[in-house]
Amino acid sequence: MELLDGKKISNQIKEEITETVAKMKERGEKVPHLAAIIVGNDGASLTYVGSKVRSCERIGFESTLVQMPSTTSELELLKKIDELNKNEAVDGFIVQLPLPEQIDTQKVIMAIDPDKDVDGFHPTNFGKMALDMSTFIPATPFGILELLERYKVDTKGKHTVVIGRSHIVGRPMSILMGRRGWPGNSTVTLTHSHTKNITQIISQADIVISALGVPNFLKAEMVKDDAVVIDVGITRVPDESRPKGYYITGDVDFENVSKKASYITPVPGGVGPMTIAMLLKNTLLARERHRAKS
Ligand code: GUN
Repeated sequence: MELLDGKKISNQIKEEITETVAKMKERGEKVPHLAAIIVGNDGASLTYVGSKVRSCERIGFESTLVQMPSTTSELELLKKIDELNKNEAVDGFIVQLPLPEQIDTQKVIMAIDPDKDVDGFHPTNFGKMALDMSTFIPATPFGILELLERYKVDTKGKHTVVIGRSHIVGRPMSILMGRRGWPGNSTVTLTHSHTKNITQIISQADIVISALGVPNFLKAEMVKDDAVVIDVGITRVPDESRPKGYYITGDVDFENVSKKASYITPVPGGVGPMTIAMLLKNTLLARERHRAKS
């Protein structure tokens, strides 16, 4: 078994970006600027956004954090998005999901300028991704592709089973793994809550990508020998004995599945850190595109 070490690879990517940014500075160019909007006080979302902003600072990007109360109206959020769309200093921005229920997420995503949509959630960017056109690929699927590439995991002709059809992970992942090229060229099954015989389907997978959010869902007896196992689940399990009052766990019974898998991502330290690294990569791409246009 080889560990797909997202912490190590994400650090390499961040070092690569740091060098690129240092060169931009030397040439007197504007450095990339990422803004993040967070609405409300969800603990996990605040943690994720906090690490996105901190990572920007560490690698030499500019960053702006926009915090809005949980009572924010849809109109107020749309106004803020309009401001960021028009702000020449900002190269890319994200609106952290999920949003409070009074806000229509689709409307919000549609309001983001596709050229600044470094999450790759806007239908224009999602459509380009599905058509193999150059665009912003959503950070978590992009991070998984990067891990597969850097560890030279063979995907051609393999059966990839994706568990979960969220717009952020499962759906784009299913498209990307089936695209022409590498990583890709695999035969994809997208499974979800209405899938019949899910355990039988998973048992036929060469590559399993679990994005369910159910701790210990994937057990050793469900996967075949030498399967590649990607765990996208990040669940906070309350535990008073831990300093933070919780611990983080994935969808996979790592201890037992790792004995059978050829490659496996740990949680924490697998897909999570890759998501942040790829968001930074998309922001760098946004900056380069803006410079080319101006
Ligand atoms: N919530 C969970 N993952 C993500 C992500 O990648 N981007 C945004 N904007 N919100 C998220």
